[in-house]
Amino acid sequence: MSTPAKTTPASTPRTPDPDWWRDAVVYQVYPRSFADTDGDGLGDVAGITTRVPYLSSLGVDAIWLSPFFPSPLADGGYDVADYRDVDPKLGTLDDLDALVRAAHEHDIRVIVDIVPNHTSDQHEWFRAALAAPAGSPERARYVFRDGAGPDGSLPPSDWVSNFGGSAWTRVEDGQWYLHLFAPEQPDLDWENPEVRADFEHTLRFWSDRGVDGFRVDVAHGLAKDLSTPYRPSDEKALPLDGSDPLYDRDEVHEIFGTWRQVLDEYDPPRAAVAEAWAPAPRRVLYARPTELGQAFNFDLLEAPFDAAAFRGIIQRNLAMSEQSGASSTWVLSNHDVVRHATRYGLPTGTDTDAWLMTDGTAPVLDAERGLRRARAATLLVLALPGSSYVYQGEELGLQEAAAIPHDQLQDPKWIRTGHTVKGRDGCRVPIPWTTSGPSFGFGAVAPHLPQPADFGRSSVEAEDGEPDSTLSFYRAAIAARRRLQQGEELHWLDTDGDQGSRSRVVAFARHDGWRSVTNFGVDPVPLPSGTVVVASRPLGDGVLPGETTVWLA
Ligand code: GLC
Repeated sequence: MSTPAKTTPASTPRTPDPDWWRDAVVYQVYPRSFADTDGDGLGDVAGITTRVPYLSSLGVDAIWLSPFFPSPLADGGYDVADYRDVDPKLGTLDDLDALVRAAHEHDIRVIVDIVPNHTSDQHEWFRAALAAPAGSPERARYVFRDGAGPDGSLPPSDWVSNFGGSAWTRVEDGQWYLHLFAPEQPDLDWENPEVRADFEHTLRFWSDRGVDGFRVDVAHGLAKDLSTPYRPSDEKALPLDGSDPLYDRDEVHEIFGTWRQVLDEYDPPRAAVAEAWAPAPRRVLYARPTELGQAFNFDLLEAPFDAAAFRGIIQRNLAMSEQSGASSTWVLSNHDVVRHATRYGLPTGTDTDAWLMTDGTAPVLDAERGLRRARAATLLVLALPGSSYVYQGEELGLQEAAAIPHDQLQDPKWIRTGHTVKGRDGCRVPIPWTTSGPSFGFGAVAPHLPQPADFGRSSVEAEDGEPDSTLSFYRAAIAARRRLQQGEELHWLDTDGDQGSRSRVVAFARHDGWRSVTNFGVDPVPLPSGTVVVASRPLGDGVLPGETTVWLA
């Protein structure tokens, strides 16, 4: 039997390597906040293209583009009105093709964000569903149900939305539809073959255009138990056995098995990474070679800056990856959480939602310490086997913008919680390119989210070429990693016989003498022997200062 011919798209990266994703440094671009070339205050696709040389100078292997599809922006673009187009506010399909070509010319891969759990309420399918009667094929693409109570005026179940409030919204004729997120994000019914076929079409559409991989939004949410009576869900205690009615059900894996077949139609096969908020042992199921290949590991993103926490998380995740045949992923920041330079500058255990509600005044942020620790954590993570995800602006040492005026907040969490949770806008503020000027070089006018007045100090212009800047540090670290990273071996090292669970030093060796040593404590420790390759901050004479990582060779 002959193997079907593989599809080769128009644009490909310079060096063919089907395994590039296994140990890539992936830079997340939040397009609306990256670079604005048309002066409307929103970043655009052409803006990203103009910054490809910058991304190349940073040394990243790939960029992951958060959604750039047509969207009414009820949830920062994660409410998609058309999966196979570019939002006219951000550009055109030609602009996207030009971006993919420019990235490939610099040997940078492109990952696109696919949002399969829900569409926008402005998607043509949902409009058709609203116009059609109960029980119609148009409604069957979504989850429409009759309400509870004698007159159907109560929601069908007690399920709550991730952004607050009921997960059901009533429509004019009295039926209710399900939305695990905002009401403007109706959930699709993945038991419907039309839904499945349409997403396979979307995967091929972008793969044909040369896109190298996909980030799969809310991957753990597609399969749902919609039989009545509805079982209650308690989000805080995800059961380990796949019995939650809404998340991480066993049936979801069949969908991704099919996706893998589509992704494997390409040469090289397209990569994929699941956003699956599931307990660690079940998360790796999404990353099996027969499914997406990778799943985000958010353990470090939720952990304090603490040696035992880091050591335990790394050990567990490396063991799980070995078992599943996937590669590990490491994430410290993304567009959904308070930036790690800020988290680490707050007292351990601070509730960041509550802190944001004080406009970042209480408890007081030690920004210098936060950044020092963030650099140490980043360098440690870059020394690990697997791939590292970097969120735009962390390479500049940006802090969370905690004091955005209330009337300018955009996050649906802010609205849906009755203004009690600010949400994620503080990490989505447009990044500063220049020390001064309108929107610090982001664009020509005021940006869609206001930037802090001192942002220019952390701009690319201010940090470029400055030996001690965070930007220079990231460039040096990523360049060294490119030279050194190979294989998946890691050996834990004793540091002065002190590598027990209470030690504040985390040290490990990779291969050919490459070692990473992190001092999580505040007091200096003796610097192990060897040649210093990179350090997260200047070292003392023969000592590794507190809250510092060094790579030795
Ligand atoms: C994911 C995204 C988040 C979005 C949500 C709903 O968690 O990362 O930004 O709000 O899905 O699509």
